[in-house]
Amino acid sequence: MDSYIDLKNITTEELKNADLDRIDVTGSPPDMEPHRQYYFMAKCRQIVKSESERLGRPLYACSVCFGCQMNARDSEKLLGVLRSAGFRESDSEDADFVIYNTCTVRDNANQRVFGRLGVLNGYKKKNPYMKVALCGCMMQEDLVIKKLRRSYSFVDLIFGTHNLYKFAELLYRCYTEKGMIVDIWEDTDKIVEDLPVDRKFPFKSGVNIMFGCNNFCSYCIVPYVRGRERSRAPEEILREIKELAADGVKEVMLLGQNVNSYGKEPAGTGFLSFPELLREVEKVEGIERIRFMTSHPKDLSDELIEVMGQSKKICRHLHLPLQSGSTRILEKMNRRYTKESYLVLAEKIRRAIPDISLTTDIIVGFPGETREDADDTIDVIRKVQFDNAFTFVYSKRTGTPAAAMEQVPDGEVRENFDRILACVQETARERVKRFEGQVLPVLVEEINEQDNSLVTGRLTNNTVVHFPGDASLIGEIVDVKLVRCEGFYYIGEMGKDGNG
Ligand code: SAH
Ligand code: SF4
Ligand code: F3S
Repeated sequence: MDSYIDLKNITTEELKNADLDRIDVTGSPPDMEPHRQYYFMAKCRQIVKSESERLGRPLYACSVCFGCQMNARDSEKLLGVLRSAGFRESDSEDADFVIYNTCTVRDNANQRVFGRLGVLNGYKKKNPYMKVALCGCMMQEDLVIKKLRRSYSFVDLIFGTHNLYKFAELLYRCYTEKGMIVDIWEDTDKIVEDLPVDRKFPFKSGVNIMFGCNNFCSYCIVPYVRGRERSRAPEEILREIKELAADGVKEVMLLGQNVNSYGKEPAGTGFLSFPELLREVEKVEGIERIRFMTSHPKDLSDELIEVMGQSKKICRHLHLPLQSGSTRILEKMNRRYTKESYLVLAEKIRRAIPDISLTTDIIVGFPGETREDADDTIDVIRKVQFDNAFTFVYSKRTGTPAAAMEQVPDGEVRENFDRILACVQETARERVKRFEGQVLPVLVEEINEQDNSLVTGRLTNNTVVHFPGDASLIGEIVDVKLVRCEGFYYIGEMGKDGNG
């Protein structure tokens, strides 16, 4: 057998490709990151190995993700560690290790987690070796932790958003210590790079460009659970994207709560601006599509519109959350733009990039919202003509300024919600249809879930297309004739003339 790897004398690059079974774990763990986490992955491998020898079968881990794209990316990191530790991935929650990466943006996200925990407890009673772990945004709330400690004592491990990079170390503690392990940090300025990632799709990937949020929209809990805004160094982002391209990735989605303020925090770093970063990403060979999420309207610059207009790779899609069309409500939401300035911005984008699709998020029932305010939202939807709009009922989040404001009765919210949703559906149906009959490139993502003679992919504007095809097309960009628009998606046929 080859000699052992000494963690004190190995570069991060070598570490990423190293055989974990050869890491010397006889001494104490190193302090340096990410080396320390690789040490614990190697330690966990020994535990997983001996346990699966004892059971005569592999150990299975199941990772479940709630919430946004950022959480989805975090879950890929969790799975990367679990795989490195020797677990096999399972879709079933009746597994040996189950981890929920939680979301708390609206209360129903929390309710879902508590509901499903009951089911996990049932599995755990049958499998005494099973471990249950919880992490993510919901865990950053004191009240949640109190409730878990009081009524969900079967949970083995709880950690938050700021120390996710320590997962390997916490996993090791989970298997070597008794009782519930809780490790939650208030905030962090640390970004640990180069941990293993297990991507869900071989051909597309999220890439974090910043963490946290400083905007404090008055309804939103994200700044409290994700901490202060901090950008990743551009060289790290570009290195990751180059590695992804070398690994066959064609589409990257740059992720941040407010990508338009990329590079501003931490102050004084001299990082690129977001449009400058996009110009650099454009140069990476092999990357064919660039997306990003989310853009805050208040920070969207003319330079960004220019870069998007000139780019061959940036997708013709912009998600630009409106939240409300009423200037009065926008002010109470602390969004820092008005109905008029949003309309001017949307018009400017459309003029520069005529074929672009705009999508949005809308909150209905924010404290003090009247029928007239909802009419303003409907007016903006009619004028902007979104390709899609995610419409949410306002959810009161403890600790946010809006929670202390006078709430709107449920009945009124329902009525406005139904009116807004009907308007979204009507306008989107018309708007999405504009490409009917054209032949456009589609990146094929998967076999259609309902009908396995079809594959499902996306246009650069993010519209979904279903067309006859097989698994060999997954990850390919192919020309598809958009034969028929069915509301929010298309039915198509492959080939320039639609005849395959
Ligand atoms: N950073 C993004 C949004 C992240 S949260 C942005 O600023 O656009 C995703 C969406 O959830 C938000 O756009 C908003 O529409 C919705 N949301 C956030 N807090 C909410 C709440 N308390 N109730 C209902 N919807 C909410
Ligand atoms: Fe929440 Fe506003 Fe930050 Fe988006 S920008 S995450 S809505 S506080
Ligand atoms: Fe939810 Fe956290 Fe994302 S609260 S929306 S998972 S940042």
